[in-house]
Amino acid sequence: KEQIAEVERFEAATPEALEAFRIKYLGRNGLLNDFFAAFKSVPNDQKKVFGQTINELKNKAEEKVNSLREALENGVEQLGVYGDLTRPAEPVQLGSRHPISLVKNQIIDIFSSIGFNVSEGPEIEDDWHNFTALNLPEYHPARDMQDTFFIQTNPDILLRTHTSSVQVRYMEGNQPPIRTISPGRVFRNEAVSSRSHCIFHQVEGLYIDKDVSFADLKQTLLYFTKEMFGKSKIRLRPSYFPFTEPSAEVDIYWGLNNEIDYRITKGTGWLEIMGCGMVDPNVLKNCGIDPEVNTGFAFGMGIERIAMLLHQIGDIRLFYENDVRFLEQFKSTI
Ligand code: PHE
Repeated sequence: KEQIAEVERFEAATPEALEAFRIKYLGRNGLLNDFFAAFKSVPNDQKKVFGQTINELKNKAEEKVNSLREALENGVEQLGVYGDLTRPAEPVQLGSRHPISLVKNQIIDIFSSIGFNVSEGPEIEDDWHNFTALNLPEYHPARDMQDTFFIQTNPDILLRTHTSSVQVRYMEGNQPPIRTISPGRVFRNEAVSSRSHCIFHQVEGLYIDKDVSFADLKQTLLYFTKEMFGKSKIRLRPSYFPFTEPSAEVDIYWGLNNEIDYRITKGTGWLEIMGCGMVDPNVLKNCGIDPEVNTGFAFGMGIERIAMLLHQIGDIRLFYENDVRFLEQFKSTI
């Protein structure tokens, strides 16, 4: 009975192990021949049970040898060691990068090529880095421009509403020349719709050095829009941000070549893509940079908005639903 259990348990990893097993049980000097020899001296009243048991053992051992031999032979073929090397491989299911990552990486590549590095910072921020250092003191009405998710009040801890907070941190830790872009996730307490979400992504840029001018800003943004969209006409409309003076919104000339262009540009051909301006001297001072010596520009854009334009995506919510039918469509893009 013990031997039967052992036979049932046996597995062979190599043909050699299987052969050793066969010899042990079924070989000329194997266990089974010993048992058959012993059969003669078994008392008559036990002969029946003993005989049945050793027959069962013999059958089991033979079955095991045959089935393991077959498995080993098939195994070798599957490994392709002796099998058909020209046989096509099993198809591999490749994943794809998320469109937000794709567009973010494209933006990083473009600014890297003109000397910007990448800086990151925390998503949970204090009041100083998200507001006060950026020329938005307490009770400043412009704080209402960005509906904030507070985690704690007094002292205020919040989910950052823009990645300008990263630029504050960067200025606090580095002296000019500074050329950095800050991609990251930001949070605003807004109603979710097809065009806005309470979580989205930004890339903000900062350039500070001696003699940085508004002309530098415009040329940098023109270079970016050419590389990103293949469009070479931009315009800057006066605007307001507390941390830049002067400030502007950047429009690109998208054109009116088809119905989609007509719809997304509302018939004007122009499309707003980001905010920008010359860094306010107060902000530089707050961050330990001498505004008498240095000037700088900053800009900020939403990654979702740019991804929606590039890939003609009509609803921002698609980015966060993880529907594979949506995600699969970005397989061919690197
Ligand atoms: N921080 C602004 C926003 O979140 C964007 C911006 C950045 C505007 C830098 C001007 C300069 O909307």
